[in-house]
Order: sequence, then C-alpha cells, then structure tokens
Amino acid sequence: MLQDNFGRKFYYLRLSITDVCNFRCNYCLPDGYECDHDRDFLKVNEIKRIANAFAQMGTEKIRITGGEPSLRKDLPEIIRTVKQTAGIKTVAMTSNGFKLTEHIDDWIDAGLDSLNLSIDSLDPRQFQAITGKDKLQTILDGIEKAQKRGFNNIKVNTVLMREYNHHEMKQFLDWVKHTPISLRFIELMQTGDNQEFFEKQHVSGANIKAMLLESGWMPVIRKKDAGPAEVFSHPDYQGTIGLIMPYSKDFCATCNRLRVSSLGKLHLCLFTENGLSLREHLQTDDSQGLKDCISHMMTDKKLSHYLQEGITGGTKHLAMLGG
Ligand code: 5AD
Ligand code: SF4
Repeated sequence: MLQDNFGRKFYYLRLSITDVCNFRCNYCLPDGYECDHDRDFLKVNEIKRIANAFAQMGTEKIRITGGEPSLRKDLPEIIRTVKQTAGIKTVAMTSNGFKLTEHIDDWIDAGLDSLNLSIDSLDPRQFQAITGKDKLQTILDGIEKAQKRGFNNIKVNTVLMREYNHHEMKQFLDWVKHTPISLRFIELMQTGDNQEFFEKQHVSGANIKAMLLESGWMPVIRKKDAGPAEVFSHPDYQGTIGLIMPYSKDFCATCNRLRVSSLGKLHLCLFTENGLSLREHLQTDDSQGLKDCISHMMTDKKLSHYLQEGITGGTKHLAMLGG
C-alpha cells in the first residue's frame, strides 16, 4: 500500500492525459492554451502500465483529467484500458463538458463510472464571460442525456469568484433542489499565473458552510476514496452541496491522492515545485522497477501545500495537472 511519511494512504490517482484545453477559464487559461513543450502525451500502453503499477500498490480509483481529456481522440480506449486494470474499482473523469452530449454514450460504454464537470455560472452570458465559450446549454443538455441513460454519478464543480458568481448562490441552490446532482463549490486557488485575479476574486467557503448549516443542511460522512469535498445534504433537495476549501486548516490531513501529469511525471501535490519523471520506467513491462520508483518518491511528500503562505510551487495553472 502506498503510504507517505505521515501515515497517509493513497487510494486515488489523478491521471492527466493532455494539458491542452479549448476553454479559457478566467482563473486558469485566460489567454487560452499555449504550448511550451513537446506534445508527447502519455500513450495508451504507458497509461496501462501506470494504472497497473498503482493498482498493485493499492490504488482503487483513477480519475482521468486534462487539460480537457475529451480533446484526445483515443479517450474511449483510455477509459477502457484503465477500467480493465485489475484492482481499479472506479474510473472517473473531469471534463469541461463541451463534448458531453456527443460522446457520453461512448464514455459510458467504455466503462466510465463517474464524471465531474465544471459549471461556474448558470447564467449563459456569465458562463461565457468566465470560460470564453457559449456552452452552458450544451453542457446542461449533456447532463440530462446522461441522467436519462441512468448515469447518475455526475458532480458539478463551481469555482467561487467574488465578482462572477458569488451572487448566484440562490440559482445554484434552486437548481440542486430539483436536480439529483452533486454540486461542489471550490475555493479559488492561487497559481503562478493568476495572482492578481486571485487577490480580487477569492472568497472563502466558510460562510457558505455556515449558511448551509443554518438552513438545515447536514454533513455527509466521507468515504476513504472520496475527494477533498465536505458534503452536505438536505431532505428537501434532490442534490447535494459540497465545499472544497483548500485554505482551511487541516485540508491536507485527509489527502489520499497522487497525480501523474500528461508527460508522465509524478506530482506528490498539486503545488510541488517539479514532477518526478516516471517515463523511463514506462517503456518496458518492468512493473517492479516502476513500483519501486514510485514508492521511493513517496518519501518526499510534504505535510501540506503551504498555499496559505502564497507558495504555489511550479504550478502556473491547473490545466497543467487537471486540478
Ligand atoms: N482554483 C480552483 N479551482 C480551479 N480549477 C481550475 N483552476 C482552478 C483554480 N485556480 C478547477 C476547474 C475544474 C477543476 C478541475 O479545477 O474549474 O472544475
Ligand atoms: Fe480548461 Fe479546465 Fe482550465 Fe477551464 S479550468 S481553462 S476547462 S483546464
């Protein structure tokens, strides 16, 4: 079992398969994607070796992330490969949702178990102002299509921003009242590229938590492979609300996840200085060598991200690692 020096166990791998994205979220890629390296993203056989090695060390859940994973034509094959790995119980994916309606059937058929989408506003014009794309309705249609097929494991991420969506709380809650969806508000995180934006837009999730508790929402117990959200439910609401508060005390104490970038580097934290390359170990079927390398790297995992001190490591934006 993969474990660090602080006794944290890692059941959950977030695997980026590309850092390319076609959206321009104002907190992430406001000027759009710019490539500053070879586009030599992990190939399916490399992905297979990574999934196998992690599964043999106790990983039960793999989340496929980007950039935007659906920009890869071989995405269904990647989902299928990860799903067929012995020991992997859950294959999840994070997507901006622009290809959802078109491809959801292929993803489900390939074995996708759960899907996270980003919707930062329920107002189409505001959505476009944030992402650069007029795609809100397409994404909502895609969600409906998936739910009609009986695929109910959809979570929606909303990055909280003071001037862009903080005033839309009522619309979000009304939506969750009638939609069986898990909506999670994410506190904006500072990255290398967004410092000024962060200072203007960051709002804490703590006041939302207080508001939820005051209006009858109850905390839901966390599962061992759960993400970092604190989740709340309410008897009058079909959906749930989650809060992801990376700046809260002890956020890192429950860290159960590792990341591999689309170039095959292991990142022990979203905010470490550099990834540690696994790529040389992905060229042959030497799974023991790969596992030894990963276990050895684990001893470097730090206790916290030190974001509170404004340290963002080598992370320019989260498209690099898929959040
Ligand atoms: N702070 C918080 N969340 C972010 N995301 C991307 N960049 C940031 C940031 N700086 C979110 C996206 C997506 C998820 C993968 O990460 O909105 O929902
Ligand atoms: Fe793309 Fe996600 Fe970054 Fe938005 S947050 S630009 S969808 S990678």
